[in-house]
Amino acid sequence: MAKHIYGIDFGTSNIKIYNRSGEQLLNERNVIALKPGNQVFSFGDEAFEMYEKTPEDIQVSFPIRYGVIADMEHMEMLFEHFFDKVNLPRKRKSGDFYIAVPTDISEVEKRAFYDLVADSKIKVKDIAVVDKPIADAVGVGIDVDSPRGNMIVNIGADTTEISVTSLGGIVISKIIKLGGNKLDETICNVVRKKYNILIGMKTAEQVKTRLAHALLPKEEEEEDEFYERSWKVFGRNIITGLPANKQVSALLVSEAIHELLYTLVDAIRQLLERTPPELSADIIDTGIYLTGGSSMIPGLSQLITEATGLHVNLADSPDLSVIRGLMEIIHNPKLGGLLYTPRENDY
Ligand SMILES: Nc1ncnc2c1ncn2[C@@H]1O[C@H](COP(=O)(O)OP(=O)(O)OP(=O)(O)O)[C@@H](O)[C@H]1O
Ligand SMILES: [Mg+2]
Repeated sequence: MAKHIYGIDFGTSNIKIYNRSGEQLLNERNVIALKPGNQVFSFGDEAFEMYEKTPEDIQVSFPIRYGVIADMEHMEMLFEHFFDKVNLPRKRKSGDFYIAVPTDISEVEKRAFYDLVADSKIKVKDIAVVDKPIADAVGVGIDVDSPRGNMIVNIGADTTEISVTSLGGIVISKIIKLGGNKLDETICNVVRKKYNILIGMKTAEQVKTRLAHALLPKEEEEEDEFYERSWKVFGRNIITGLPANKQVSALLVSEAIHELLYTLVDAIRQLLERTPPELSADIIDTGIYLTGGSSMIPGLSQLITEATGLHVNLADSPDLSVIRGLMEIIHNPKLGGLLYTPRENDY
């Protein structure tokens, strides 16, 4: 019988787990809701539904922050629950675990992912990690072992990881603390400042996915129908304290997030400037690969192209490209060389 192998991408907003045996792919919010005494009340998408709606005695926790484990105990509990979900009842199997980890973090932070799985209640055979940008590159169909240079930009929830890969390794990479969550926060702020209405992060995220555009209208297009689109948000008036609602326009939202998107574009330019010229030549030839859930903001590829002069390749289901890469590594033993064991922490 074939070995059981699982692939995991511990994202800040969404965890993705692949179970080779059942060909199962799980993609759920990486959230846990706890009752007093650390009892699990709900987890995943169901817990996210409750977020910002729970009574005081229910604690909602996001155990990954900025791509690293912020709460080991909660992440371990969550992992065990999600693991059960990708396995048939009573078919909980031991197996090998391949974990995608950010590159530009400390060895201790990398090792924490390994320890999390090793210390869980799940029976584990082997654990190996792969750098996220490498899995990402495999996931978008790049031949990572070739000597060609590639630039991958993964815009997630808490972080954006910008990397240049070649010959199966990472030549340079940078992780910046900017992603979808910052955009949601900015949308909350602008609605509060402009309309005195306090909205939740979940509402802000919905506003973003419905209305945000990375490009601002040209002057003659100010009245453009596209930017006049609006959506009604519900929240609380901060002066009266009463429930309130307001139509929020696409123009307001797009203007609010523009500066953050520009910061991101600037970071891409800086990394391009640090890229060795031979690899730059390849990147000019093939373009930049854009992945991660936040790359779905319409107009973002064009904004990057305008700022860098480079072509941008947008991945299909970009939030799943890292786990797609892990799936490929699991199914193709030739790619096994991309996996490694993080150094043990010496305390
Ligand atoms: N259609 C969309 N338009 C804009 N943003 C979107 C869209 N769909 C999802 N997102 C955003 O993508 C982010 C989630 O993407 P992803 O799953 O890649 O992040 P993650 O892996 O959990 O985070 P990280 O990589 O930072 O740890 C969220 O911030 C979400 O709001
Ligand atoms: Mg991610």
